[in-house]
Amino acid sequence: MAQPKITVLFYSTYGTNHKVALKAVEAAEAAGAEVRLRKIRETAPQEVIDGQDAWKAQQEQMADIPEASLDDMEWADGFFISAPTRFGVVASQVRSFIDTMGSLWQSGKLVNKTLTATTSTQTQHGGQETTFLSLYLTAMHWGCLIVTPAYADSIKFEDGGNPYGFSMAMGEWGETGEKSVAFQATRLVEVTKKIIG
Ligand SMILES: Cc1cc2nc3c(=O)[nH]c(=O)nc-3n(C[C@H](O)[C@H](O)[C@H](O)COP(=O)(O)O)c2cc1C
Repeated sequence: MAQPKITVLFYSTYGTNHKVALKAVEAAEAAGAEVRLRKIRETAPQEVIDGQDAWKAQQEQMADIPEASLDDMEWADGFFISAPTRFGVVASQVRSFIDTMGSLWQSGKLVNKTLTATTSTQTQHGGQETTFLSLYLTAMHWGCLIVTPAYADSIKFEDGGNPYGFSMAMGEWGETGEKSVAFQATRLVEVTKKIIG
């Protein structure tokens, strides 16, 4: 059986989605995947980032992580995307990267790849589900096979129970959240194995 290739993509201003991505990498590798960890390119002006200590510190934390490229999308058999909610949809940095993928879409290079997502918000009802739906809508255009956690493991009855993907408010996820992210990444790898044969 071929080894699945998974690109874990994330965008993070304050560190939450960075931590989720690291947990996803750990679990995907443990499940037998070859993994690329990639941060999505920052688009905010540097002077805005420099004006917020927490944002600047997080930028330094991620300095060594390569930026996501089109090659990372073409290379992978599946994608794990972790990104924050912004005004009810995914952060614009993620949309900006997505909007560079016209050539991949046009040449059918995203078809039949698997995709799953996680998100974070400030408040519980601040738009987690709408963020998932906006990302999964794009995945439908690409021809990706969306792999949600659903309620396919008992952890989903302990982690807040979002069947679209792991989500959290105020960066609070703890051990239960870590288990949930690990389950979601493992499930992505297992389904991807079935697809690539
Ligand atoms: C411009 C902006 C818009 C945001 N919009 C929302 C929102 O619609 N709903 C919400 O609950 N939180 C919102 N937040 C809070 C972010 O979701 C939160 O900072 C993020 O999940 C933290 O993830 P990170 O640590 O990976 O950056 C917003 C934050 C910013 C900076």
